[in-house]
Amino acid sequence: MTDYTVEFVGTGETIEISDKQTILKACIEAGIAQEYSCRVGMCLACSAEIVEGEVAQPAARGLTDEERENYALTCMARPQSDLKLDRGVYPPSIEDDAASAAAAADDD
Ligand code: FES
Repeated sequence: MTDYTVEFVGTGETIEISDKQTILKACIEAGIAQEYSCRVGMCLACSAEIVEGEVAQPAARGLTDEERENYALTCMARPQSDLKLDRGVYPPSIEDDAASAAAAADDD
């Protein structure tokens, strides 16, 4: 088991996380207000942009292969190095879903 440091840019929050633990679980235990909903890698509510470092997130089904390089689903992601994450930054696919929903609402 290896521990890594995860720093959240813009907030100054820093936590130590084992490579066996999800980032979301560590945030909850540390009292950090990380947003989440499904906790199974589908809704993208827990997304964070990976500013620096690497995560393992094989079960992050809500992300495209390209998005997996730059975004972490914190409910699924486990650190593989020290990390800098920007919480509340969402991958393009969630924006596409929102745009589609808005367009559908405009059609009504
Ligand atoms: S909480 Fe839904 S993808 Fe993480």
